[in-house]
Amino acid sequence: MSTTFQINTATSRANPTPAPMKRLTVPKIRARKSGGKVDDPLVMLTAYTARQAQLLDAHCDLLLVGDSLGQVIYGLPSTLPVTLDMMANHAAAVVRGSYHAVVIVDMPFGSYEQSPQQAFESASQLLKASNAAGVKLEGGEAMAETVAFLTRRGIPVMGHIGLTPQAVNVLGGYGARGRSDAEAEKILADARALDEAGAFAIVVEGVVEPIAISVTEAVQAPTIGIGASAKCDGQVLVTEDMLGMFERVPRFVKKYGDMAAMITQTAERYAAEVRERSFPGEAQTYQPKD
Ligand code: KIV
Repeated sequence: MSTTFQINTATSRANPTPAPMKRLTVPKIRARKSGGKVDDPLVMLTAYTARQAQLLDAHCDLLLVGDSLGQVIYGLPSTLPVTLDMMANHAAAVVRGSYHAVVIVDMPFGSYEQSPQQAFESASQLLKASNAAGVKLEGGEAMAETVAFLTRRGIPVMGHIGLTPQAVNVLGGYGARGRSDAEAEKILADARALDEAGAFAIVVEGVVEPIAISVTEAVQAPTIGIGASAKCDGQVLVTEDMLGMFERVPRFVKKYGDMAAMITQTAERYAAEVRERSFPGEAQTYQPKD
């Protein structure tokens, strides 16, 4: 990723003013795969807030406002209770905080499965409210008609197959998919259906590696793996997982930091200084002018 830019964060609460730059586009992302391969793997991370987006933006091709925010931000037990309003508000914040990456917003459970028309209404509501560039929805063959419907009407769609968390009650858990021949064939058929329907990229989540590789070879659209394979055309992780905000993470997550420990230790220091009255110190205290 070569684009760099300056953000003026004069105060921590200011709306930062970046040097003018062009945001990546969905067609540019789609075009990164040509002749069946991607030379420069796509980098995607989740983002839910403006400040998080500011920090991640320069390093990512795509920022995903994932419905994982249900668990990560709201402490919900799954993604199922997440609403369109929650997604729209967080997506708007992420768009405000980013200047380079393509911002994609998840369609929450119940907002698109009923019909292509329902999906169009929900997706257009999300894009109008947030100015995000496209939507992501879960499901393969069953959603192909909807993906084609949205794409033909100007809404770029990222697909999501394999382990689809919104279907947890049908799948019976969050275990890896594609271990049986029947499951493997279904995942491949789902990928092909989304590709033909015009999905501009496809998230492949929680599948055994050979299936992730077969899917990546079978489709024209770039695949973005999570718990899949380094041979996918790109990768995505939930940012809080890779930052180490949670003690327990799925096996496919690599912790690149230890934010939970950092926050705990910092809060501990602050609490101790308040209790011993060493904070605020002279530097943080206003005195009358002479
Ligand atoms: O909701 C989400 O964060 C996602 C990613 C894990 C792909 O769908």
